[in-house]
Amino acid sequence: MSRSAHPAGPRHADVMSEGHYTAPADDLNALDEKVWSSTVTRDEHGALTVGGIEVSRLAEEFGTPAYFLDEADFRARCRAWSDAFGPGADVFYAGKAFLSRAVVRWLKEEGLNLDVCSGGELTTALDAGMPAERIAFHGNNKTVEEIERAVGAGVGRIVLDSFQEIVRVAHTARRLGRRQPVQIRVTVGVEAHTHEFIATAHEDQKFGIALAGGQAAEAVRRALTLDGLELIGIHSHIGSQIFDMAGFEVSARRVVQLLAEVRDEHGVELPEIDLGGGLGIAYTSEDDPREPHEIAKSLGDIVTRECEAAGLATPRISVEPGRAIVGPTAFTLYEVGTIKPLEGLRTYVSVDGGMSDNIRTALYDAEYSVTLASRTSDAEPMLVRVVGKHCESGDIVVKDAFLPSDLAPGDLIAVPATGAYCRSMASNYNHALRPPVVAVRDGAARVIVRRETEEDLLRLDVG
Ligand code: LLP
Repeated sequence: MSRSAHPAGPRHADVMSEGHYTAPADDLNALDEKVWSSTVTRDEHGALTVGGIEVSRLAEEFGTPAYFLDEADFRARCRAWSDAFGPGADVFYAGKAFLSRAVVRWLKEEGLNLDVCSGGELTTALDAGMPAERIAFHGNNKTVEEIERAVGAGVGRIVLDSFQEIVRVAHTARRLGRRQPVQIRVTVGVEAHTHEFIATAHEDQKFGIALAGGQAAEAVRRALTLDGLELIGIHSHIGSQIFDMAGFEVSARRVVQLLAEVRDEHGVELPEIDLGGGLGIAYTSEDDPREPHEIAKSLGDIVTRECEAAGLATPRISVEPGRAIVGPTAFTLYEVGTIKPLEGLRTYVSVDGGMSDNIRTALYDAEYSVTLASRTSDAEPMLVRVVGKHCESGDIVVKDAFLPSDLAPGDLIAVPATGAYCRSMASNYNHALRPPVVAVRDGAARVIVRRETEEDLLRLDVG
């Protein structure tokens, strides 16, 4: 399913699509490097290790379920993105995928910028020392208070999402005696999902200002007249988990057309375009993501070509990858609790987490893979569904996968590629305690987001 359309909106287990699974891999113990972070391997006893530390030791020290984040891999991905785009472009990590103060420090050290979309993300970024000018502030309904904080902090750009916001940001900036750099987020009539994109005639979504009907041109007109704003460019984000560059191509072409219209009407060449995030990663061996250098070349070529055709100087490009940086860097480690074989159908393997630490399977019908982590096994493969401990039949972590048939309670299993949109979308459903994020690097592991405790639950519940 990770190859098909990323469904919009919630799904209930009762309407989940039919099982989708291929034959078991030849060797269930093998680790496909596409879905695992770079330091994950098996040691001489067959146990999974990350950053040189064996998972049983990690489970003993930090408990399960827990997310283990491979810091070296995270940093390497940051570098790969910034090297691929080079000094003439800007990479903004999308903090919504996963944000913590440690992550902010790594981004800062690796020279990346940061996209935040709430007051909470902004606070985390600033508290961890990200220079405000390297922060972009997003969101379709920023509160006036958030706008004040962002402008007051001196963020490098605010991405304007609506006509009301043009006025709100201009007003706040004037009041604070600033000229705020802004981009306008446009909806280009392209919706991209994984391997497909759909060019729609209308703009039926809450984000951005439509290019259609001259809306975006009108937004530019207004932004250019307000002296609290410095319009630096146009922004477009077309979707999630995208492999097909064709959607970006259409988006870039339409954004460049708008730049040409702006030049013709106002005599101004806007210096930047931001093509958003949304680049896909491998959740299973069936996914074939593109490398950052291919993406950079492809986007660079499209923009250069379109600008040449329109007689424009090539603007500075920025991108906002979230999933593509953090997604593959982490796995979730679970302990197997109960095992329920259903003859001729599948075996349900219950783990000590579930939809509270990974809602993506229930919400988007997302696909994941899983491996036996605490040991290897030569037992026959069995078809499993990895489920959580929540009071809901849709509480599925991995819908269809194969694990060795000698799997037993107490075994540790690991689900790769859970770095993005898992901890950041985690919930307390059934008063589950949200798992910790543990960073592992060069034989050392440290908690960067601690596990919630029952005291945390009671502290919020004021009685
Ligand atoms: N920029 C903007 C303006 C965005 O809205 C997003 C994601 C990104 C960048 C980063 O996209 P990424 O590179 O991480 O795909 N919860 C969903 C994904 C929602 C994405 C929302 N916007 C999921 O779990 O698949």
